[in-house]
Order: sequence, then structure tokens, then C-alpha cells
Amino acid sequence: MFSFTGVAIASAFVASSMYAVTALPSGCDRTYVVQVNDTCDSICAANNVSSYQLSAVNSGVIDPNCYDIYPAETICLGITGQDCNVTYTMQSSDTCATIAAAASISLNTFLTNNPNVNPICSNIYPGETFCTSPTIYVNLTSSE
Ligand SMILES: *[C@@H]1O[C@H](CO)[C@@H](O)[C@H](O)[C@H]1NC(C)=O
Ligand SMILES: *[C@@H]1O[C@H](CO)[C@@H](O)[C@H](O)[C@H]1NC(C)=O
Ligand SMILES: *[C@@H]1O[C@H](CO)[C@@H](O)[C@H](O)[C@H]1NC(C)=O
Ligand SMILES: *[C@@H]1O[C@H](CO)[C@@H](O)[C@H](O)[C@H]1NC(C)=O
Repeated sequence: MFSFTGVAIASAFVASSMYAVTALPSGCDRTYVVQVNDTCDSICAANNVSSYQLSAVNSGVIDPNCYDIYPAETICLGITGQDCNVTYTMQSSDTCATIAAAASISLNTFLTNNPNVNPICSNIYPGETFCTSPTIYVNLTSSE
């Protein structure tokens, strides 16, 4: 059974280099088909995916500024075992502290699961979506 999976992944990889069709990352447990006028922020907010996770899962597929998503493109939203689906989309009055408190998690857990946020929390913006789960999903030593 696992060898069939390996063959399928290998074929998808060959197809992607030949036809520029994007292969989904291995272990992808949620996918989304991009619609007209979507942005990475709107996709994250509507699908319970953090900004960090969307970017990490689609590394090499979606550029960091999200200029290159296109309608009908299928993207991955999460990878099994690393898929945080408990999220919050920032409103203008929020800070990291208020978001963490509302989710009943520590600031440290918030920052661990959202490694794109700097330690003084000065680089977040309204409309950005964060993982607010008490479970730690981000393991930079194994995934980066
Ligand atoms: C996309 O955005 C444009 C400009 O705001 C709007 O005219 C158009 O109706 C939108 N299309 C869809 C499918 O939402
Ligand atoms: C997002 O999470 C909320 C609960 O926080 C849930 O009600 C909603 O159905 C989820 N949406 C998706 C697309 O999974
Ligand atoms: C998150 O994923 C788990 C496991 O797949 C599922 O049981 C749960 O309903 C999901 N929660 C939301 C808010 O989508
Ligand atoms: C995180 O990575 C370390 C080192 O590879 C590994 O030992 C550990 O099991 C990983 N933890 C999770 C939760 O993936």
C-alpha cells in the first residue's frame, strides 16, 4: 500500500516538472481551489489556516507576498500532524496579548505556533490569521 503511494508521489513530481502543474506536498490533508479575487489573507480567514501555515505548506509554490496565486489553482492548506485549524483573524484593536488571552493560551504558545510574528509583536496586521490552538503544531527544527 505504501509503495503505491510512493509511485503516485513520484509520478506527480514528474508531471509537475513536465507540465508545470503544481504537485501538492506529501501528507496534505486539506486542499482549496483558488477563486477569483482571493488573497492569501482571505483564504486563511475563510478556511481556518494561519498565515504562517499557508505560506510554509506552499513553500516554493506561493511566493511570500502571495502575488502568484491564480483562479482554479489547487493549493494545500495543511499537512497531517502539523495542521492547526483553530485560528483567529485579527481585528484592528487586537494585540498578540489580547488574541492569546481570548484563546486562553500563553503568549509563548501563540508565538511558537506563529513564527512569522516577531517577539515584540510589532508586525501583525488586521485581517491576518493566526493559529490559536493550545496544541503546538510548529516544529521548526523538523520542518525547516
Ligand atoms: C472581483 O473584484 C472585482 C473588483 O472589485 C469585482 O468587480 C468582481 O465582481 C469580483 N469578482 C468576483 C467573482 O468576486
Ligand atoms: C472554522 O472554525 C470554526 C470554529 O472556530 C468553525 O465553525 C468553522 O466551520 C470552520 N471553518 C472551516 C472552513 O473549517
Ligand atoms: C480540526 O481538525 C480536526 C481533525 O481533523 C477536526 O476533528 C476538527 O473538527 C477541526 N476543527 C475545525 C474548527 O475545523
Ligand atoms: C520536532 O523535531 C524533533 C527533531 O527532528 C523531533 O525529535 C520531534 O519529535 C518533533 N516534534 C514534533 C511534534 O513533530
